[in-house]
Amino acid sequence: MAETTSATRGNWNSKMGFILAAAGSAVGLGNIWRFPTEVASNGGGAFLLIYLLCCFAIGFPVMVAELSIGRKTNRNPVGAFKALSSNKFYPLIGFWGVLCGVMILSFYTVVAGWTFSYVFEEILFFTGFTEWAALFADVSHGVKNAIFSVLFMGATVSIILGGVSDGIERATKFLMPVLIGILLIMIGYVAFQPGAEVGFAEYLKPDFSMISAPLVFSAMGQAFFSLSLGMGALITYGSYLSKKENIPEAAAYVTLADVGIAFLAGLLIMPAMYMAESFGVNIFNDSGELLASTDLIFQVLPALFHSLSTTAGLIFGTSFFLLLSMAALTSTISLLEVPTSYVIDEFNVQRKKAATLIGGGILIISLIISFDISLINSIDFIFSTVGLPLGGFLICYFLGYVWKVENVFKELEQGYQGLHTSLFKTIWPIFIKYIAPLAILYNLLEAIGFITYIQELF
Ligand code: TRP
Repeated sequence: MAETTSATRGNWNSKMGFILAAAGSAVGLGNIWRFPTEVASNGGGAFLLIYLLCCFAIGFPVMVAELSIGRKTNRNPVGAFKALSSNKFYPLIGFWGVLCGVMILSFYTVVAGWTFSYVFEEILFFTGFTEWAALFADVSHGVKNAIFSVLFMGATVSIILGGVSDGIERATKFLMPVLIGILLIMIGYVAFQPGAEVGFAEYLKPDFSMISAPLVFSAMGQAFFSLSLGMGALITYGSYLSKKENIPEAAAYVTLADVGIAFLAGLLIMPAMYMAESFGVNIFNDSGELLASTDLIFQVLPALFHSLSTTAGLIFGTSFFLLLSMAALTSTISLLEVPTSYVIDEFNVQRKKAATLIGGGILIISLIISFDISLINSIDFIFSTVGLPLGGFLICYFLGYVWKVENVFKELEQGYQGLHTSLFKTIWPIFIKYIAPLAILYNLLEAIGFITYIQELF
């Protein structure tokens, strides 16, 4: 194993830099593509409520756990479990994380490629060079799609090559405020459009009768996906974190930023759906349910942009997709950083070689699956909705019963002076040892039952 010190492995330059990088990892297509789609297909407000609960009761405690493991060990997820226990089983948690990361990145690259291509599609549309009809079908297949996936992976690899502080940290720093600004302006615009109130009601008024096992399961998966948890991305980011930092505080900022942006995205997209309907976009499927797929982002939002004047449409349409591409980029960076740091640490390979080979390998998977949207959805379900909570459960178990909370406190107190008198110290162990793992386990078992039920139907 390569013996690396924190000095040679790289470190974040500043506390703000770390929080922004972790928030950059969290905020991405998960907030703006995946979240509204999940909300719409799971009955609006009820989903929102359960999702928020999962973020705060499961996500936040697990985030503190991952960051602590990473900072304590200074290692990638596999190496971290090796360092904390001599039992050969536990590094498998890290391996599972690396595998989930690879598979998530493979479909994420495809969707990020679509997002990036829309920057140009919007320009072509507003300058009168393309017709809008059937655009998505055109983008999502074939050569165009492949080109944009390649571009996106290329951008991800080149930032990873820059290393921790120069690459990742610098790229994230200025993007987030601009993204929030654009979201707010657009929410303000949509709020006064016809149909908006229906969308707001759908989103903000929970219908408790909609709460069901599959809904809870999806909400939990979404919480893990959106907060970048369950696969060791934050173990890796924690490994570059200085001992001076207050981990629970940083985790709280990251959680709030991510949940806040997801919430804003819902405030934009739910009303925009009904607005788009008044422009003739079909937002219900054949059985009368809300359309809940990738089309939301790639059809409904463009309908909104196209309702603006040419100049405003050009400005908002292109900058929205550009910012979303950037948000996706700060997420793909964290996804690629996990397998890359694994190979660097454990096999003593240079960063350049590791990032290029792994990025190239994942790109090949992306190019294969990009031809089949249903394949993308299946991989997303297996590795995000199921895989991440499973990883999260194992992390809770490891931390609560193998490494133990007392040892975590020793790690945390270095940057958290008030730890011993804090409410956090009393409450967090209850969540990490009991509430979070039991809630995850219950949902996973329920889901297995649900799957057999589905199988019985056929
Ligand atoms: N959280 C990101 C998003 O919402 C996706 C992501 C980045 C991710 N890194 C991750 C998901 C690690 C799971 C694990 O778009």
